[in-house]
Amino acid sequence: MISTERLNIWPLEPQDLAKNYSWANDGGLCRLIGALPMPKPFREIEGWFSNVTADPETHVFSIKLKDGCHIGNAELRDLDLRCGACELGIMIGESRYRGQGYGSEAVKGVCGFAFRQLRLHRIKVRVLQYNEPAFAMFKRCGFTLEGTEREAFWQDGRHWDIRIMSLLCSEFERK
Ligand SMILES: CC(C)(COP(=O)(O)OP(=O)(O)OC[C@H]1O[C@@H](n2cnc3c(N)ncnc32)[C@H](O)[C@@H]1OP(=O)(O)O)[C@@H](O)C(=O)NCCC(=O)NCCS
Repeated sequence: MISTERLNIWPLEPQDLAKNYSWANDGGLCRLIGALPMPKPFREIEGWFSNVTADPETHVFSIKLKDGCHIGNAELRDLDLRCGACELGIMIGESRYRGQGYGSEAVKGVCGFAFRQLRLHRIKVRVLQYNEPAFAMFKRCGFTLEGTEREAFWQDGRHWDIRIMSLLCSEFERK
């Protein structure tokens, strides 16, 4: 378990999937993370859970308040232990808990785990052009914009850029 000031961050468990089911069917949230905007049955969420928990290159976490309330998820994926690199994904699925610092607190907790326990060197995030809150949050957490995949994502009848940001272990420790 990763403990921060207001959060406990756990490996995702089967009893957490009810929340994931509702988040996976939240159209506004799917748009922000670039997930397919279509109804997802519970068995699809269970299939996703089986796949990610069996995948040695992925760690999926539930983000919980100290009282146990499950407010979001984080994921370290595409773990490359030779290069010490991975990609981070995060969502505060419960919209009423956004904008209160929980996202950045969770990012710092998960990055601390990745750099100190997994001994990674670099963490990458991919942020859709229209997702300003996420871009601002990662910047505030010390991530640097390193490039753009131009017009790489199709949504709302047009193409959007994907912004690539990264954080190095040395930058995290300096902060
Ligand atoms: C992106 C997300 C994880 C941020 O978490 P959060 O708890 O809402 O963010 P925080 O409260 O920690 O905010 C930290 C900083 O992010 C930025 N930010 C957060 N919400 C914002 C908003 N609605 N508009 C603009 N900037 C915002 C600000 O810079 C903020 O700093 P400030 O409080 O000094 O203004 C959350 O909004 C979320 O889950 N969104 C939906 C899923 C998603 O977009 N995931 C990321 C995919 S790349």
